[in-house]
Amino acid sequence: MSTEALLSVSNLTASVDEKTILHGVDLSVRAGETHVLMGPNGAGKSTMGHVIMGDPVYTVNEGTIAFDGADITELSCDKRSRAGLFLSFQAPVEIPGVPLSSFLRASIAGRPGLEMRGKEFRRRVKELAAQLDMDTAYLNRELGVGFSGGEKKKVEMLQLLLLQPKLAILDETDSGLDVDALSVVSRGMDAYRASCDGSLIIITHNTRILEHLSVDRVHVMVGGRIVREDDASLIPWIDEHGFESFEREAADAAEAR
Ligand SMILES: Nc1ncnc2c1ncn2[C@@H]1O[C@H](COP(=O)(O)OP(=O)(O)O)[C@@H](O)[C@H]1O
Ligand SMILES: [Mg+2]
Repeated sequence: MSTEALLSVSNLTASVDEKTILHGVDLSVRAGETHVLMGPNGAGKSTMGHVIMGDPVYTVNEGTIAFDGADITELSCDKRSRAGLFLSFQAPVEIPGVPLSSFLRASIAGRPGLEMRGKEFRRRVKELAAQLDMDTAYLNRELGVGFSGGEKKKVEMLQLLLLQPKLAILDETDSGLDVDALSVVSRGMDAYRASCDGSLIIITHNTRILEHLSVDRVHVMVGGRIVREDDASLIPWIDEHGFESFEREAADAAEAR
């Protein structure tokens, strides 16, 4: 593991419609590490994921985002994706008429290191589908149309394993994963880490997803600020106590400002 950070977010302040949501956030992830971002509803966790990915809805007012040795603060979402960043889409799109396999094929097109011939692509996708216990019949189905929550997760994990990004941000907060989908995500994350020593930022309320995963760092966000950072021992503590004490401290700090 290198000592250089793969992702380094410094003093990040970001807003939408003149409303500041992130207030001077620092977060640093090294290659191969798994981080968890937790916090109550509305804390700014999903916003953080979107801003790192370059979602143009948000404005960066201050601070920088460095990734793999380059300042990416001003880069388009597409360029960040090509640089090796991946953000799971909480509500995967439905594209009637486009089979899943075509969508996957398009998502790797033109990416260095991922060029494959049709035959190789089909073999690879089949292999990954099997790894995720996914019926290969899905590959010919229209993207997203009529997919259950668990099936959508399988598609997302399949894309993750195909793309092998250097850093994947998985935002699971609002998706209400059932047991089936949970196990898909766990399996996908394990396979991803094993296959390419990828880094992860998992945004979640659901500590069950973390049960079988070794976590390096936990970040707690309240009111658009990181209020606590610790090792994995913080997860069972949050399980038991929730975010109330962090919210109280944050309210006191806000009053003092
Ligand atoms: N695109 C947006 N437009 C307006 N408000 C937004 C937008 N995205 C996030 N917010 C606001 O920012 C705050 C943080 O939201 P979010 O990042 O979704 O929190 P979390 O994921 O922690 O629940 C909320 O008050 C939310 O309403
Ligand atoms: Mg969210």
